[in-house]
Amino acid sequence: MADQSSVTDGIHYHQHDVVIVGAGGAGMRAAIESAPKASTAVITKLYPTRSHTGAAQGGMAAALANVEEDSNEWHTYDTVKGGDYLTDQDSAEILTREAIDAVYDLENMGLPFNRTAEGKIDQRRFGGHTRDHGKAPVRRACYAADRTGHMILQTLYQNCVKHGVQFFNEFYVLDLVMAEVDGAKRVSGVVAYELATGEIHVFQGKSVIFATGGFGKIFKTTSNAHTLTGDGVGIVWRKGLPLEDMEFYQFHPTGLAGLGILLTEGARGEGAILRNASGERFMERYAPTIKDLAPRDIVARSMVQEVLDGRGAGPHKDYVYLDCTHLGAEVLETKLPDITEFARTYLGVDPVTERVPVYPTAHYAMGGIPTNNDAEVLADNETVVPGLYAAGECACVSVHGANRLGTNSLLDINVFGKRAGNNAVAYAQTADFVDLPADAADGVVKLLAQLREGTGTENVAEIRKALQETMDRNAQVFRTDETLQRALADIAELRTRYPNVRIHDRGRRFNTDLLEAVELGFLLDLAEILVVSALNRKESRGAHMRDDYPKRDDENYMQHTMAYRVAGDIGLPQEIRLDWKPVRFTHYEPQERKY
Ligand code: FUM
Repeated sequence: MADQSSVTDGIHYHQHDVVIVGAGGAGMRAAIESAPKASTAVITKLYPTRSHTGAAQGGMAAALANVEEDSNEWHTYDTVKGGDYLTDQDSAEILTREAIDAVYDLENMGLPFNRTAEGKIDQRRFGGHTRDHGKAPVRRACYAADRTGHMILQTLYQNCVKHGVQFFNEFYVLDLVMAEVDGAKRVSGVVAYELATGEIHVFQGKSVIFATGGFGKIFKTTSNAHTLTGDGVGIVWRKGLPLEDMEFYQFHPTGLAGLGILLTEGARGEGAILRNASGERFMERYAPTIKDLAPRDIVARSMVQEVLDGRGAGPHKDYVYLDCTHLGAEVLETKLPDITEFARTYLGVDPVTERVPVYPTAHYAMGGIPTNNDAEVLADNETVVPGLYAAGECACVSVHGANRLGTNSLLDINVFGKRAGNNAVAYAQTADFVDLPADAADGVVKLLAQLREGTGTENVAEIRKALQETMDRNAQVFRTDETLQRALADIAELRTRYPNVRIHDRGRRFNTDLLEAVELGFLLDLAEILVVSALNRKESRGAHMRDDYPKRDDENYMQHTMAYRVAGDIGLPQEIRLDWKPVRFTHYEPQERKY
């Protein structure tokens, strides 16, 4: 169905039943459900196939049992235990049950998975994937070499085109429009900035899905692309809606040392080994049963501990090695071709014959926009915002708890992206459009004018660098009250500098300078929420490791954090209120996590 559009006072107005923000895996999976039934627009700040889903490497989890015995129930158990029991167990059950169809949906759409000799989808080992409740590693990750995300993205894009999804590429959504109907807030649409022209577009939608990905760029060392600035999460936050579990940020063990570029856990799935400077396979000490294939939080912490204890390698003893040399050239070139090339290109190291320097890299936000199992966004612990949905990394269902299991992210975007699309279109088929307020675009127009015309002396890149450095130093794998307070003080100072930024490009067309300034505002907001939530959680759980509170404390902290914005317009200090939300249990009693 064609875009219904008009122009008034220089602002473009569009109308679609379903408006999806973000063209990564979750957004496009949602669009494939909604487009055959209703007019669907996907608005993306990139070209769709440049979305960060394309950087996901090692696989997508599903207990197909194609190569050895496996079950949904084992997958659920691993997801819950991997998440250090903060995972909502009913959500994890949905994730693992619907995983099977999610993989076959992709296969039917044409995704070229690696195959077994009999032609079935091949499966490999991955961190935290175990048989029979932790007894041994299991082959559960379905994969396409080490380009699984790339293949998913291409496949979904082709299918979106087939279903007539209307894409608005290089349009930056900068605001969510809500209006009051019968005393309740409802979704009316979104406001976007068109990069090519500098024009403003208002998209009215009966339902809106946020699928905008994560915010890894709050850290310096990250596997995330430059575009991962948390815009969607930040927009929802600025609208007064809460964020959940923001303190839980995952550090992937194997980033290329000093660079953060991802080397898939699939390498360890194929048999690669982590070694310290003296060549010791140190994971045998930390996780004797599944060793290098322990969940990411445990492996990342063990690597950092090796470095802290003086067993790191290199001139500064600040990394460990990923040893793939025993895998052989054929396995590396056929099953892990991209990471083999990355090591050669970026570090000049050939994994066929040399050990690769690696260190944890900021990778994935477990927290984000709270949703229920239908991908509906929550305004508090229970109340649904009618017409508003979120899926993928920007959302917190919560299927990942305190630490996501490897390959559950590609699964999440497919399972909850599909749910978001189905539910958003069902809602749109019964609901009316909510009238756009006359001033719908005013906030965005004002924000952009303020940044474009700013005459201050501050530089966007310098503030961003200072933010990333303090986050790496003070809010990384190990945290204490002291380090977090330092980060908080630094962020507060950077927030006071932010309104005085001066951008160099004052033009309208392709003004990426302007948009980087907007993105910085979101990064500052989200980093502060992460740190405030982390200070408040005085325990260690999953990816949140407090050196000053090294034990998990179920009695006081077996709860999700809910952060609310009390005040904090741009340039003003942010006031954050924290609350708790119960974890949902079905079958699994919290246990000590041993591997
Ligand atoms: O290691 C990897 O291939 C990353 C996968 C993931 O984040 O799930």
